[in-house]
Amino acid sequence: MRDALIEKAASFLKEGLLVSFPTETVYGLGADASSETAIRRLYQAKGRPSTHPVIVHVHSVDAARNWAVDIPPEFFKLAETYWPGPLTIVLKRANSVLNAVTGGQDTVALRIPKHPIALALLEAFGGGLVAPSANKFGRLSPTLAQHVIDEFKDEVAMVLDGGPCNVGIESTIINLSGGRPRILRPGMISVDMLSSVIGEVETPADSVAHAVSAKTTLSHVPTDTVSDIRVPGALASHYAPETPLHVVPSHDFYRFLDQCVKNNRRVLVVSFKPQQNDFEPSSWITLAQEPEEFARQIYGALRLLDKRNGDLIVVESPPDEDARWSGIHDRLSRAAFRE
Ligand code: TXA
Ligand code: MG
Repeated sequence: MRDALIEKAASFLKEGLLVSFPTETVYGLGADASSETAIRRLYQAKGRPSTHPVIVHVHSVDAARNWAVDIPPEFFKLAETYWPGPLTIVLKRANSVLNAVTGGQDTVALRIPKHPIALALLEAFGGGLVAPSANKFGRLSPTLAQHVIDEFKDEVAMVLDGGPCNVGIESTIINLSGGRPRILRPGMISVDMLSSVIGEVETPADSVAHAVSAKTTLSHVPTDTVSDIRVPGALASHYAPETPLHVVPSHDFYRFLDQCVKNNRRVLVVSFKPQQNDFEPSSWITLAQEPEEFARQIYGALRLLDKRNGDLIVVESPPDEDARWSGIHDRLSRAAFRE
């Protein structure tokens, strides 16, 4: 049964159609990475600007090598340690890679996902699949097949259901295309996990620090422009629910809620604290104060609350000092409401 579904999905992809499939991070919206037509269809469905690059998902390290040139030794070390897994590696692109994949840049992003359905699909398909997260441009990534169905309905040929995603936020992206290795998008593979394998790794915070030390004011440095590499995940309003979201420090949390209630604002809550009596159960979600579990739950929680017609979603800020939360902090700050 499973094999027949995978074969069907692979044949849709070969026809240039879109198939959503589960990965360990979030659900992807897959298209043939060697077909302009398929990629155009993908950008259209997502409502994503065509200059933004997409990740090529492959089945093996050998397959990855076909997409890149001048591959540094760090690539092989990281691939051996973390692939299949929630790590995307940016390399210099091979000539044959379509501009539609790279957004016209001279680099390509590659990843082997760690999900049996994704791997089976890649094997049956036999080539590379571009697969951005299966959400409309700027919205929350899906962590359940139902999220994809809710958002795309008839725009995809098929949604493969692999249950809830185990990691829950998008892969860490590291740039190995030149210069010092640098994290472009933090995720659950932390800077420490990367530097334990390849030595020093720069983080987005380092880039901001450089920009600041170059006499730029922090408030004038949109994350987007600190690097010359375009990462749509680095746009300010990304990964966002429709309801305005506020991230509030733990120590200020109750005071903030009280204030909102006094002002008659309909507040929806994601917190580490148990539900307060004056809140309905459906408007308060308590998550574990443990990064792996929190990451797994956060997008689903925000999607649920987003349906409740509140005035705002308030998220209690996770601990600051622990690098294991950096991917989560990154997504929360992008989801946060800005005037
Ligand atoms: O976990 C993930 O990475 C998920 C699953 C489905 O694999 N995919 C994902 O794709 O998050 P997407 O398209 O939503 O985000 C891909 C990110 C974007 O921020 C994009 O700018 C960046 O990867 N990217 C793609 N190619 C790049 C390149 N050549 N250089 C720098 N960034 C690149
Ligand atoms: Mg995305």
